Parts: sequence; C-alpha cells; structure tokens
Amino acid sequence: MNFDQSILKNDERAIFALRSLYQGKGYRRFRMSRFEEYDLYSANKEMLVSEGVITFNDTDGRLLALKPDVTLSIIKNSLAASKTVEKLYYNENVYRISEDSHSYKEIMQTGVECIGDIDACHIKEVVLLAAQSLETVCDDYRLCISDLALVEGILRDVGIEGMLCQQVIRALEDKSLHSLSGVLDADAFCKISKLFATGKTGDELIGDVKSVIKSKETLERAELIGDILKMLPGKAVLDFSVTSTGGYYSGIIFKGYINGIASKVLSGGQYDKLLKKMGKNASAIGFAVYLDTLERRMDSSDTEESKSFINVALPKGRLGEKVYDMFEAAGFDCPLIKENNRKLVFENERVGIRFFWVKPSDVAIYVERGAADIGVVGKDILLEYSPDVYELLDTGLGRCRMAVAAKKDFCDDDTKVLRVATKFSNVAKKYYGERSRDIDIINLNGSIELAPILGLSDVIVDIVETGKTLLENDLVPYETVFPISARLVSNKASYSFKTEKIEKIRKALSVQVMKNDD
Ligand code: PRP
Repeated sequence: MNFDQSILKNDERAIFALRSLYQGKGYRRFRMSRFEEYDLYSANKEMLVSEGVITFNDTDGRLLALKPDVTLSIIKNSLAASKTVEKLYYNENVYRISEDSHSYKEIMQTGVECIGDIDACHIKEVVLLAAQSLETVCDDYRLCISDLALVEGILRDVGIEGMLCQQVIRALEDKSLHSLSGVLDADAFCKISKLFATGKTGDELIGDVKSVIKSKETLERAELIGDILKMLPGKAVLDFSVTSTGGYYSGIIFKGYINGIASKVLSGGQYDKLLKKMGKNASAIGFAVYLDTLERRMDSSDTEESKSFINVALPKGRLGEKVYDMFEAAGFDCPLIKENNRKLVFENERVGIRFFWVKPSDVAIYVERGAADIGVVGKDILLEYSPDVYELLDTGLGRCRMAVAAKKDFCDDDTKVLRVATKFSNVAKKYYGERSRDIDIINLNGSIELAPILGLSDVIVDIVETGKTLLENDLVPYETVFPISARLVSNKASYSFKTEKIEKIRKALSVQVMKNDD
C-alpha cells in the first residue's frame, strides 16, 4: 500500500517501518486483548517499566488490569520449550505512566521476543535487530550494552562479593568514580575502574578481561560481548552503567538512545530468570521500543545547535557562584555571566559551553529531561527525587549534612507516632522506614525550624550547614542522616552522544576538586 507517510507522526511512521523489519526477519506477530488478570503484574512488578497499573473489577468480580506490558503475556502464553525457538513481535497499546509525561498514557509499544533454546547466535540476532530498530528511526543512535553475567563474573573473580559487590554495581550504574573510590582500596579501584571503563572496543574488552580473569565462563561472556561490539562499530557502546535492579535479567542487557531524544528509546536483554519464575524451561531475550518518546524528538535544526554546545544547569545563588568559579578555573569560562544583569542564559562559543541559572532544586529536572546536558546539584536533591541521571563527580562544594534536629528537651516516645517536619519527605520516610519507626510527615517549604518551636512537629529533618539557625532557635542536631555536597550530574542520553566533551569537563573539574582538597 502506497500513501504519503509525511502525514504521519514520528511514532506512527516508526510503527510501519518496524513492523516490516520484524516480519522480514521471520518474527510472527503476537496479538493480545487489552486486559490481563492483575495477578500477572503484581507477581512480576520488577519487570514493569513503570510502577502504576490501572485496575478494575470484571463483571464476575475478578481483578483485571489494562495491560502495562506485553512481554509477561507473551511468556505466559509461550509454548516454547528447551528444543525449540519461538520468534515473536508485537505492536500493542499499553497503559502505563509515560517516561515522557510522567502521567498515565495509552502508548503504542512495539518489540520482539525470542524464546526457547537460545544460543549465542540468537543473542547476536536480537541485539542486531535492536540496532536496526533504532536505525529505522534515526541513523544517529547508540546502543549501550552491558552483560550482567560478565559484571558478576569479573567481580567474583577479583574477590569482590556481598554488600561490596552491590556497592560497586551501584557506583557503576551512576558512573560515579568518587563512589567507587569510596568503597574500594586504591589497588582494587585502579583494577575495577580500568576493567569497567565505558566505550572500549570489543578487542579491548576481551584483552582487558583476559589479562586479569582466569575463569572460563567469564572469558566466554567477554568474548560474546566483544563480538557483539565488533558487529556494530561506532554504534554499540560498552557501558557498564546499564544494569537492572529487578533481578530478572541475567545476561546481556542494553539500552538504545537517539540523538535529540532525552530519554532511552529502547530497552532489552536476556531474562531467563523470569521464565524460570513462570515455570518455563527455556531462555528468552527481547526488547521494547518506547514509541511515545519519539513524539518529543526535536527538529533537526534544534538538534544541530544543541549538539555543538554543552548545556550546563547551575544552581542559582551562593553555591552556583562557587560552582561557576570552578568551571572557570577548569577552563570553561563565560565572562558574560559576571555582568550584573538578570539574564539567565550565557554562552561562550569558543569553549562550546552554555550556562543556565536555575533554582537549585530544579537542576536535576533540567538534566533528567535533557534541557541541560549536565548540571551541579546537591546530594540532598538527588536522594530526595532519585532523578535518572549519572552522578559524575563530587565537587566537594556546598558541604553540609542532612540531620534530625529537635528542641533541647526532646525525648523520643516510641509509643507515639513521631511528627516530622521536612522539605525532604522521601528522605525522611526512608530514614525512619529503615528504623521501623512510625512517622507523620509534615511537608513544609521553608523555615522548617519553626515547626518544633510552635509544636507543629516533634523533630525536623533538614539541612544543617554552620548549625547557626538551629543554635539561634534553641534546637539541637540529634542524628546525621547523610553528608551532602554538590555533585556534577549528566543526562544519560547526552552522555552517550557527547561523551568526549562531558568527560573532558569531568576531568578538568576533578583536577580543581583535588586542588581544593590540598
Ligand atoms: C537551610 C536549611 C536551614 C539552614 C541551615 O535553609 O533549611 O534552615 O539553611 O543553615 P545553617 O546551619 O548554616 O544555619 P535555607 O537557607 O535554604 O532557607 P529555607 O529556610 O527557606 O529552607
């Protein structure tokens, strides 16, 4: 059927192209109804992209859900066994919280699943298909690849286990060299940061793993991932920040980005553990393309312009000025910023940098949504809002702490619910949740110290810098929740396309951090 495809939106055009790609590769269409029993999703929550599921009672009282996902239904219905391979693609509406609008949406989602007796050839075929899917939408794409079996194998082989293993994986996920150096000794840090460096070629990966690791399984995983990287030069990027907390992925795992779209467009991997949990004696690998993100694709002129600059969100105020001074000392200056006016955007074409002044608590939003490539934000904001960003560097600026404070005569009565006034309700809930303490959160936006004075709360959870505000209001700090300092953060998609420039800034700033520490 020939018709003018220019009348279609980006996501609609992609649906047609992807459908013909998957059919051409021998994948059969899987169709399903709008509803599934809610149990399927509640039992496998970690597998879902977003937490929320829209539920309702059927006429016979069964709890049904508008499907938020297709993979779980495919696996539930799959007849694939250990000696066969079933290749399916889907093109279905799902109902979930959109990564783009952060509200419920009906989203056309497409993807493929390859289930059964999966070997290295099937893994390569699906990864290649993921790359071709991205290329179908735009040839300026990156497929970031990691392998959980390889990561776990390397860590096991170098003797990193238990809690430390989790801390290392978390630091890799955040691309936080400072967190990594905080949990490892100098020797282990050197080894681990080299083994897990981003952007190695396939041969470099295999060579590095061979030089340190002796176990056969780990070497085999390195060879498989190395071969995959070699299949897609310049497009597939080895990136150990790609990981999964759900626990269903067990092998290769990947995320796809398209230049000009601030969030991931594709996500997938091998998920044998899910099949095992659902009682299937088989393996599976697949991916989903998040078509809703394509609606937000900037036009090419915008993309070209922002490509040439690194856009930096600075926190307005005293901290922001110190942060700017650090950028200036690192060689990323923008003299116009020092002029006394009310402008919010400043750029220096020569060094390719553009600064924005934004409210400190908004920096993470600008970066997560891709309006800024990088930014500097307090650890308090990162822990309160958990934005999906990389935490590249501890600048050491703005050091203070999150603390529990109360009146001098405060005595905790654990038979009563503790009333906690704070601007940081997620931090407070987590802190007291870990201590199994029942609390009543009182959300305030400022002058938190007033709450215990006026009897509105028993304690406050707030930032303490010099301690002067507490002292002058007859309050005392009781416990430190965590130390705070300003962190350099990066949008994940921006990092994929501007790796060199962002790394140059990180390195230059870390030299300044070391100077400040001396
Ligand atoms: C912060 C914090 C404390 C104060 C602590 O308030 O909420 O009130 O700084 O600083 P100190 O230990 O040096 O006295 P901020 O200035 O952000 O104003 P706010 O009251 O509007 O939150």
